[in-house]
Amino acid sequence: MPGLNSTLHLDMLKRSRWKRRLLPRLLLAIKRELSAGEGIYGLEWGDPEVLEPLKFIRDRYVIPYVNAKHYAVEIGVGGGRWTRYMLGFNKLYAVDYHQELLDELKKNFNKPNMEFIKNNGTDFPKIQDCSIDYLFSFGTFVHLDTPLIKAYLNNMKRILKSGANVVIHYSDKTKIMAQTGYLKDGFSQNTPDKMRQMVLDADYKILEEDLTTMWHSSIIRFTI
Ligand SMILES: C[S@@+](CC[C@H](N)C(=O)[O-])C[C@H]1O[C@@H](n2cnc3c(N)ncnc32)[C@H](O)[C@@H]1O
Repeated sequence: MPGLNSTLHLDMLKRSRWKRRLLPRLLLAIKRELSAGEGIYGLEWGDPEVLEPLKFIRDRYVIPYVNAKHYAVEIGVGGGRWTRYMLGFNKLYAVDYHQELLDELKKNFNKPNMEFIKNNGTDFPKIQDCSIDYLFSFGTFVHLDTPLIKAYLNNMKRILKSGANVVIHYSDKTKIMAQTGYLKDGFSQNTPDKMRQMVLDADYKILEEDLTTMWHSSIIRFTI
């Protein structure tokens, strides 16, 4: 802990005074507007370039796994808020239940190494057995009910390579924000205990659980 002679608090005040001056605020606003101007649907829920918890998720659960030799899947792509960090995979399968959302993603990100797959809500058509090194889903399982989550967990076994990393963001109803307001009905009835059990019942090995970064949801990383 800093002692009483520490300049910590006065330094913080000095930095804050600088940031609150017009020029730095204008620069920040320009940066924010420029990134919004990329037109990515979903940034209104939080931009992983700007919002600290999402930056943390990007830097801990996405970027370290991107590998030019690996194959990856994203489930529930939206406008590509997270897809944009996964373009460095050898192959990226963008899987979504809604063709409209795949079309929206294509407007922003349509790279030769991407394949757009419209599924039936829990399956992986056109993806080969045992081919996937990394599977990521954010902002999608938070809305899925138990039977759909169980079906996805079973169906993804077919496409995963042994040792693959699966990162799933899910609704956490132990958190007060998931119990109230617009998330009360919008987020599914899930908890870390329930999710952990579903993952174990589907014969996966849990590698990591993050119950603290998000304020209304949690993250689980597991392998097969
Ligand atoms: C709230 S958006 C999140 C998009 C993006 N991952 C993000 O965080 O910005 C949910 C996405 O999941 C898709 N979706 C909903 N149910 C799905 C399902 N059962 N399987 C695959 N995608 C689904 C929606 O079409 C939409 O693209």
